[in-house]
Amino acid sequence: MTEAGRIRNIPHRPRRNRSSRAMRSFVAEARVGVDDLIQPFFVIDGENQRVPVTSMPGVNRLSVDLLVEECRRTADLGIGSVALFPVIADSLKTPHGEEALNPDGLLLRTIRILKAEVPELLLFTDVALDPYSSDGHDGIVEDGRILNDETLEVLARMAVVQAEAGADIVAPSDMMDGRVGAIRTALDDAGCLETAICSYCVKYASAFYGPFRDALDSAPRAGDKKTYQMDPRNAREALREIRLDETEGADWLMVKPGLPYLDVVRLMRESTTLPVAVYHVSGEYAMLKAAAQNGWLDYEKCLVESLTGFKRAGADVILTYGAMDAARLLAAAD
Ligand code: PBG
Repeated sequence: MTEAGRIRNIPHRPRRNRSSRAMRSFVAEARVGVDDLIQPFFVIDGENQRVPVTSMPGVNRLSVDLLVEECRRTADLGIGSVALFPVIADSLKTPHGEEALNPDGLLLRTIRILKAEVPELLLFTDVALDPYSSDGHDGIVEDGRILNDETLEVLARMAVVQAEAGADIVAPSDMMDGRVGAIRTALDDAGCLETAICSYCVKYASAFYGPFRDALDSAPRAGDKKTYQMDPRNAREALREIRLDETEGADWLMVKPGLPYLDVVRLMRESTTLPVAVYHVSGEYAMLKAAAQNGWLDYEKCLVESLTGFKRAGADVILTYGAMDAARLLAAAD
């Protein structure tokens, strides 16, 4: 064989595909974009109120007037949706969480105002009893037990009043069995055919929700959430929840929290054709902020890297307290 025809032992150089910004962009497998993001907000009663959440630096509880301004900024950044969580006064919390259905209650008022003031934003609302429950549980508590089917009736009514107030996507975060079906049936019976359901399908009993519970003062007064939220040791069990929520009529499925459960995001991606959402939760945000405040991590770079990880794992939609920050960073990077 001639020298020219001889096949040499070719040295492999994967670095060629990393050699310039343009080269890296061509071969990038996953990208996070502003249209993937949902910004969560905490809303409080009153006017001109901005109350910082100590364990979530940069996050505030906002009264509706300030929230409207913040939502305009959110929409201007190109973010398509905001998730709303009401801070309910202790005096309004009851064992059955009746305040959740009060037509003049904080969340329903906020939905109506935002829908009128920032109509281009999709409103993503939480369906669970914990902000309204004097027990701090997502369902009705009796003798220390969380009652499943009794809770379903309240959740279904909550979803309907939220949808009628203007919610576009109702998101049951309670993990009661059968809630997606109960909510879909109630929405359809009420004529809310266009209201979508994002099921918190695979939601773990996680300690990463700590700062969120600080923000709402909604931690369980007794016990924990392990009889309804999933065990962090399990992934196969997620397949069962996925199948049930698909059958019951969910439009989106969610995994929560995010970073400790990327394997479950991937599993969900491979097991459903429905859109997959992931919640980068309060504790994940708090970790980044705390380390950044110490000068130990670059918040902005770690935020975008975390969100990119969700996309790489297969998520379509990301809820993150850093959505507006990420939107600004992504725009600046263009
Ligand atoms: C309540 C709810 C929780 C979160 C969203 N909805 C907390 C919980 O289940 O205790 C957590 C969000 C976060 O930590 O950012 N059903």
